Amino acid sequence: MEILQLLNQASKYLKDKNILSHRIDSEILLSKVLDKSREELILNLDKDIEKAKVSKFKGLIYRRSLNEPVAYILKKREFWKKDFIVNRNTLIPRPETELMVEKIVNIFNNRNISILDVGTGSGCILLSILSELKHSKGIGIDISKKAIDVANKNLKDHKLLNRTKFLRKSLDQIRNKKFDLVVSNPPYIMKKDIRNLNDDIKKFEPKLALDGGNDGLDVIKKVIYKSKSILKFNGMLALEIGNGQLKKVSKILKTNKFRTRYLVKDYQENVRCILSTLAM
Ligand SMILES: C[S@@+](CC[C@H](N)C(=O)[O-])C[C@H]1O[C@@H](n2cnc3c(N)ncnc32)[C@H](O)[C@@H]1O
Repeated sequence: MEILQLLNQASKYLKDKNILSHRIDSEILLSKVLDKSREELILNLDKDIEKAKVSKFKGLIYRRSLNEPVAYILKKREFWKKDFIVNRNTLIPRPETELMVEKIVNIFNNRNISILDVGTGSGCILLSILSELKHSKGIGIDISKKAIDVANKNLKDHKLLNRTKFLRKSLDQIRNKKFDLVVSNPPYIMKKDIRNLNDDIKKFEPKLALDGGNDGLDVIKKVIYKSKSILKFNGMLALEIGNGQLKKVSKILKTNKFRTRYLVKDYQENVRCILSTLAM
């Protein structure tokens, strides 16, 4: 079967299953099976594909038709400037999180700082920051052992072993240490809203990474309270928040004596990250 014919077939199949990104997903998955770039694929639409590869591709398309995200099928997602291993135990890194990383890298520029990443998941935030801040070091913690296993694989791939540690720990277990930067993209979705998420997320991404409790703020509050005692003088807290949580989180920060320094907006102009310091 020719590439074009196969792509058309797969794309129609996914469209009928209400997968909005049916065409691009088909192209990405076929690129993977053929081990070619999407550009090469498009330039070779009339090329024949061998049977074994056709059936492998159909298997991947079937998985996608059940709403499994492409990142989990490929076991990787690009974030900041590199590929990260991901699986169903880790959130798929999001573009708005890259905007938080960008802001942090700009603020701390070339400095030597110590970082705590709370809820590190795949490790994407900490490893991306450390790949830019070459004199800094950091610890990433997560309560999910399986997420920490993935973060450790990414750590090896990204060759930052001498400056990074990933630990299976909850925030309460962090004692006797102080950091220049506490960063977190915590779970912040209200429990009752989880069932309204689209199937890609709801059926496949880990609940631990999504569920922020009844008001969506359970872990955010924990991070704020704990940061008061683990931030160094003038240290910074960088928090990713959900759309619409700015007012509530700002209030909690203020009550806990944090002063907002920067707000980062996503591509839809919603504030999605608050960077604050302890007001002395
Ligand atoms: C939204 S995900 C973020 C993952 C990753 N940092 C990213 O931005 O893609 C939140 C992560 O926090 C972890 N988590 C949830 N509650 C936690 C807690 N109390 N202490 C540490 N980690 C927690 C979850 O297991 C999950 O991996």
